[in-house]
Amino acid sequence: MIASILRTLPDLRAATRPWQMSGARIGVVPTMGALHDGHLSLVAEAKKHCDHVIVTIFVNPKQFNSEEDLKNYPRTENDDARKLERFDIDAIYVPDGPQIYPDGFATTVSVAGLTDVMDGVHRPGHFDGVATVVTKLFTQTSATDAFFGEKDFQQLQVVTRLARDLDIPITVHGCPTIREIDGLAMSSRNLLLSDRARVKAPILFEEMERISEGLRAGHAFADLHSAAVTHLKSAGFTDIEYLELRAADDLTLLDVPSRPARLFAAAWLAGVRLIDNIAV
Ligand code: PAF
Repeated sequence: MIASILRTLPDLRAATRPWQMSGARIGVVPTMGALHDGHLSLVAEAKKHCDHVIVTIFVNPKQFNSEEDLKNYPRTENDDARKLERFDIDAIYVPDGPQIYPDGFATTVSVAGLTDVMDGVHRPGHFDGVATVVTKLFTQTSATDAFFGEKDFQQLQVVTRLARDLDIPITVHGCPTIREIDGLAMSSRNLLLSDRARVKAPILFEEMERISEGLRAGHAFADLHSAAVTHLKSAGFTDIEYLELRAADDLTLLDVPSRPARLFAAAWLAGVRLIDNIAV
């Protein structure tokens, strides 16, 4: 079945109302398009859990830190619709700006604490933009279940918390990161890498794996960290914004993985910002 493409909130509501009335489970997979296998794994997971599935495609201006980044973000709607064909989903919601932020829109959803670290520091305002649009997408779709990748682990924590804090009756599912064969975490931004940078990009994950093995072998995080930074710099990574060990639940900084922990990284390679995280 080819999913209908819905572009307005009234059309979305008309489609979802009968599903809601029948008590069906409605899954939403929020995306900004440029779909890759990581997104498609979320769609497959949504299909497993839900009676109806909606994929949303909206390049959300409020979560970008620069006009340039927003302008360069890949937009591939026709390809995206084609990639979704085999999943037999119910609808693709592609709202234009005013469907999400109508004139006079004045509300910001802001999650404290979890956003004080990592991308919350390096991308000021980013998580307010994410939290605001995700709240809108949750309420506009009336979904019972939402599917997010662990690739953006901090985002996953933020949206889980906002749904809980705002009593939005939705279950947030976190799904494992999907990687290219060479280990690079799939991301729409990978399309922006030059051929040369694409070859170097998996080194970020390799260094993270090396730290994880080192921790398992009992080495100190500080030593592993400085070796990884040296390797990354010599491979051409210019700005390592963070490479940190943190608790998986509340993102507290750790020296040793004394409780379920993850290693988080953000670094720039040839003008592209890459982020990744792994369980330790
Ligand atoms: O992860 C993304 O693509 C975006 O941050 C999201 C969740 C679709 C909100 O715009």
